[in-house]
Amino acid sequence: MSVNIAIDGPAGAGKSTIAKAVAKELEFIYVDTGAMYRAMALHLLRQGIVPGEEAQMDAACENAEISIVYENGAQQVLLNGENVTGDLRREEVGNMASVSSARPRIREKLVELQRVLASQTDVVMDGRDIGTCVLPDADVKIYLTASARTRALRRCRELEEKGVSCVLEEIEADINDRDYRDMTREISPLRKAEDAVLVDSSEMSIEEVKEAIIRLYRESR
Ligand code: C5P
Repeated sequence: MSVNIAIDGPAGAGKSTIAKAVAKELEFIYVDTGAMYRAMALHLLRQGIVPGEEAQMDAACENAEISIVYENGAQQVLLNGENVTGDLRREEVGNMASVSSARPRIREKLVELQRVLASQTDVVMDGRDIGTCVLPDADVKIYLTASARTRALRRCRELEEKGVSCVLEEIEADINDRDYRDMTREISPLRKAEDAVLVDSSEMSIEEVKEAIIRLYRESR
């Protein structure tokens, strides 16, 4: 049976950085489920759909085939066969994903893909509902969080490194909005699974968080 490590938490908690580092060390595959919701959101935006048009979202998602391939160990997301990985980190796409991910049919399609991936290989999978819904029997479950201000600062730094200017307060407001939507939606809201270990990374380095998760994994064996 494949080994599954689930990492959930709010936007900007450092899930992908940590999950990637853990996967590399353990030689597992890293699965970024947010990228799948973003690819679906990109599909909707390309159809001219805007947040609020729920019936249109439900209809349009039926024409989107999302799949995953790995290139030199890095996850690539294909949308109807086109590699859209480079387009997924845009704020507009993230904001749409945060809205469209509440649609049950969209979740159903993507959760199915996530479960297939996790059954085939040892994975570190990050998202919002991995420990609670996608992989309830995961070997290790982590709920990774940090204060909203810390998360906004990290996101700003990331954007500035890419040459994109940003206003900290706007990013923080965006993060708070996203958290609110993720935590209050009806289906698979973001919450800590009862058996997940809470890790607050506000005062921890990437290395420290990585080591803590690897320790939990070794203890679980
Ligand atoms: O993690 P990331 O910011 O890339 O995710 C984009 C959006 O996708 C999140 O705001 C969240 O609403 C949604 N998502 C989700 N369930 C997951 C992963 C992401 O609902 N497992």
